[in-house]
Amino acid sequence: MAKADKPKLLERIKADIIKQNICPDLAQEATQLVFGDGNPDADIVLIGEAPGKNEDQQGLPFVGAAGKFLDEMLAGIGLKREDIYITNIVKYRPPGNRDPYPDEKTAFLPFLSAQLEVIKPKLVITLGRHSMDSLLPGLRISECHGQPKRFKGQVYLPLFHPAAALYNGAMRQTLIDDFAKIPRVLAAI
Ligand code: URA
Repeated sequence: MAKADKPKLLERIKADIIKQNICPDLAQEATQLVFGDGNPDADIVLIGEAPGKNEDQQGLPFVGAAGKFLDEMLAGIGLKREDIYITNIVKYRPPGNRDPYPDEKTAFLPFLSAQLEVIKPKLVITLGRHSMDSLLPGLRISECHGQPKRFKGQVYLPLFHPAAALYNGAMRQTLIDDFAKIPRVLAAI
């Protein structure tokens, strides 16, 4: 797929979510769809859970406290937002920031898969349990974080969610240490 076509193809997937009225209850309560952001030709795609309040207001993923922490960790390995692509499994904010329901994750999965099909990253990084469960079913994040997994031809790196790690000293250091493995994992692919 030509690099120049990727933004247009991603726009089409975004339009399809709206046209097909995916998760209408979530859509009705949300300010807007938070589709994804970053470089459509990136080697790395990061996938979070669902937009929070700031993301819902700005229409961009990971722009709140967890996003700031994520930016710091990216900078630690010499990367900026423009170098990666970032999105969520569920693309509307769940009311009150509740966990996404299984049927909501299932409803958005074909669109996430379509995004990955367009971007064709070398490495998919799942952030937290929800995004890992959707893409790598049957694993336990406590046991497999920081360990690359190959599944159906795609390399994944499951990591803890930055929001969960933000105020938990031990998990925070584990996430920072796992993040530092990204360049080596990418180089080995
Ligand atoms: N947490 C997420 O999982 N995604 C966001 O976009 C923001 C916070």
